[in-house]
Amino acid sequence: MTRRAGEQSERTRAEEVDRTRLTDVAKSQRQWQATFDAVTDYIVVFNAERTIRKVNVSFAARFGKHPREIIGMKVSDLFQMSLPHDNCVIDRAIMSNSVVIDEVGVDGEIYLTSIFPALFGEEQVYVGILKNMTEMNRMRDQFYHAHKLVSLGQLVSGVAHELNNPLTGILGLTELMLRKVPDESVRAGLDKIRKAAERCAEIVDSLLCFSRQQMPQRSLAHLNYVIDRTAGMRIYWFRKRGIEIVKHYGDLPGVCVDVPQIQQVVLNIFLNAEEAIAQAGTQGCITVTTSHDEGRSCITTVIADNGTGIKSSDLPRIFDPFFSTKSVGHGPGLGLSIAYGLISEHGGTIAVDSKEGEGTTVTIELPVVKDGRGPSSCAT
Ligand SMILES: Nc1ncnc2c1ncn2[C@@H]1O[C@H](COP(=O)(O)OP(=O)(O)OP(=O)(O)O)[C@@H](O)[C@H]1O
Ligand SMILES: [Mg+2]
Repeated sequence: MTRRAGEQSERTRAEEVDRTRLTDVAKSQRQWQATFDAVTDYIVVFNAERTIRKVNVSFAARFGKHPREIIGMKVSDLFQMSLPHDNCVIDRAIMSNSVVIDEVGVDGEIYLTSIFPALFGEEQVYVGILKNMTEMNRMRDQFYHAHKLVSLGQLVSGVAHELNNPLTGILGLTELMLRKVPDESVRAGLDKIRKAAERCAEIVDSLLCFSRQQMPQRSLAHLNYVIDRTAGMRIYWFRKRGIEIVKHYGDLPGVCVDVPQIQQVVLNIFLNAEEAIAQAGTQGCITVTTSHDEGRSCITTVIADNGTGIKSSDLPRIFDPFFSTKSVGHGPGLGLSIAYGLISEHGGTIAVDSKEGEGTTVTIELPVVKDGRGPSSCAT
């Protein structure tokens, strides 16, 4: 081989190595991009001027755009916020040039936002990863709430059982003395003691309802009918207070429930709605909607009112026993906690949604338990 031919083949080999290297780099870039885009959390890289340098597909999709359309924009323009603002995570990361992790609210959703400083060659950039925590936080809150109610139930049932014995003694002895004592003034005093003890016994019963210490006596029933009967019990008061009751009843299958217990739940909800409407002083309306979800095998009952609504700070506490916004002596605050206990005992759920000044919606879901669980669970 001549010297010239040797140089030629060496150049070709070097070019081939370069080409292979370039292909590897391009392949590696594509792999990184694919990794980046596979992540469903939002990833955004911006520089110290807050100009976006890179985003993943998920981040771009949140704004209904292609990543190309976002690169070069200012973070503030994208989020339509004026930067800097108090305690902004982006500012904190840029100013401290260190890792910043915080929960940030964007358009009503909560994001766990982590910002990491990095270098794009000479350029200082910041890699932001935003994880949507809204659903997870909601589930965590629900779990804490259910856990809290279980602990409260255990405490309450212990206290209620302890109170039952002395109360039975007080009531029994008062009855006995009432039979023996002829003096009218003493009898009047004894009568007051009996009434007070009976009131206490009612509260103890309610507490046992909340803590699910009473087994439901189930029978096959039609919920629309049960609700109608309960509404019938309040019809005089609805009329007197000018409350319209609107019914949207769905076609429901029969279900196995303890009718008096379900009536008590519905009654407690009606009473709360009536009071809230009376307080609001507006033209009152209670809407009852029932429906059957065959797929999920459950019956949903929604009772909505246009009363005062509930303060958002009170909402997490409304199922707690003895939580009440009524003045002292006007309600022990047991209505919803009893409803919660009874519906849970039926294997269902009860949830309250409310906006202060607009009204309240109570949603009850009951599983369709037919007579398939044996005659003892459902008497027809
Ligand atoms: N429909 C509603 N509209 C507005 N506030 C409501 C409604 N339902 C419940 N609340 C709020 O929740 C609190 C707790 O309700 P709950 O029924 O458990 O107790 P209560 O009505 O205060 O007393 P009780 O039912 O024992 O007479 C109420 O005091 C009220 O502040
Ligand atoms: Mg009540």
